[in-house]
Amino acid sequence: MPRKLHLNAFLMNTGHHEASWRLPESDPYAHVSLEHYVRLARTAERGTFDSLFLADGPQLWNTVAQRPAGALEPLTLLTALATATEHIGLIATASTSYNSPYNLARKFASLDIISGGRAGWNVVTTAGAEAARNFGLDAEPAHAERYARAAEFLDVALKLWDSWEDDTIVADKAAGVWGDDAKIHPPRHQGTYFSVEGALNVPRGPQGYPLLVQAGSSEDGKRFAARYAEAVFTAQQTLADAQDFYADLKARTAAAGRDPEHLKVLPGIVPVIGSTEAEALARERQLEDHIVHEHGVRRLEELLRLGPGSLALDAELPDGLPSEDAIEGAKSRYTLIVELARRERLTVRQLIGRLGGGRGHLTFAGTPEQVADTIERWFSLGAADGFNIMPPVLPSGLDTFVDHVVPILRARGLLRTEYGPRQTLRERYGLPRPANQHLTGVPALV
Ligand SMILES: Cc1cc2nc3c(=O)[nH]c(=O)nc-3n(C[C@H](O)[C@H](O)[C@H](O)COP(=O)(O)O)c2cc1C
Repeated sequence: MPRKLHLNAFLMNTGHHEASWRLPESDPYAHVSLEHYVRLARTAERGTFDSLFLADGPQLWNTVAQRPAGALEPLTLLTALATATEHIGLIATASTSYNSPYNLARKFASLDIISGGRAGWNVVTTAGAEAARNFGLDAEPAHAERYARAAEFLDVALKLWDSWEDDTIVADKAAGVWGDDAKIHPPRHQGTYFSVEGALNVPRGPQGYPLLVQAGSSEDGKRFAARYAEAVFTAQQTLADAQDFYADLKARTAAAGRDPEHLKVLPGIVPVIGSTEAEALARERQLEDHIVHEHGVRRLEELLRLGPGSLALDAELPDGLPSEDAIEGAKSRYTLIVELARRERLTVRQLIGRLGGGRGHLTFAGTPEQVADTIERWFSLGAADGFNIMPPVLPSGLDTFVDHVVPILRARGLLRTEYGPRQTLRERYGLPRPANQHLTGVPALV
């Protein structure tokens, strides 16, 4: 079988471009509209995407002045989307810093059962002090500590999903025996961050575990991915950087005793599509013209740890910015943004324009053929197993991608033309159903 692309639709209210909500076509209430998300999910399914994905954090991001803020809780929304779709995988973001393993493992097992094996979890450690202050902390826990807690969180969640063997339920009405107690395995976990005694109160889901996705690119993030992640979302600006990241992560996965094929790397791309190159560039300019730069300057100052008024719109970034080691928030994104500005000698205004489209993800403006060419190049040159498709404007950007880019990818043999028989999300990503650690006697996922 020739290698096929994995496509994930990263859905975000009116689109990934921060000014998308201001276009005449956009619904400023889309972020709380179930109809909007049902429409997007069905479009992605028409494009035979592997999965769709919702980002999240337990805090109100940005200011409500800037763009539509707040979002429906992902697991709740995906449960509704599970009933409106048939094939597409449903990936929810949830934080290991501000949840407890028992409650969260139960929610993902529930979504997996309700969706017929289509649940995925984007495991995040949640950067930023705003979220910390919503959970009784004064400051965000240190980066390394967040990842240490995440690793223990995963170990507990895996034990909980394995706390029922697949054939625990016998439902023997004649004998009056519903289940086999010998097949229940309470975690009895006592660790640094968690103690969890009993078995989960929901059976093992169709996939065993939801698809485990991760998106941190720092040293700690990559170590975590190599051990636990089955798909990795990443922001990469250049083909060379993406190739380095891809090779590094695959090597680390092998070194962790896992099959590198069982970790799929999906860089993000923000495709700005026009029927001609000029039309695509005009669309990109139209979006940039709607950016309110004052909002962007303040956000950039916060990201760079600068006080208000430190950045001038038409100057380059100042010298003497902190190194990644000094950043406790999202380390790799910080470095990506500073390197992008320095490499291309961007002014603050230009940098805000570039980030406004995709917050550091690759933005590509062109015809459907050019977008397909970029995707194919990265896919065939060892930079990606697939892509996180991040339309700048929704729903129109996803419609255009599915109507005009998907047929080209199919014609080139890079993408399935139909789903075929029903499959779990793991099967779509070419991953095995994990064995129960209590039966194999080896740690989960290895
Ligand atoms: C495509 C993508 C989606 C992400 N979604 C979320 C999210 O929903 N919530 C969140 O807190 N962080 C999200 N992140 C951020 C990562 O989880 C991580 O914090 C960030 O990439 C920095 O990681 P690092 O500190 O290991 O470098 C996302 C990152 C990427 C690349």
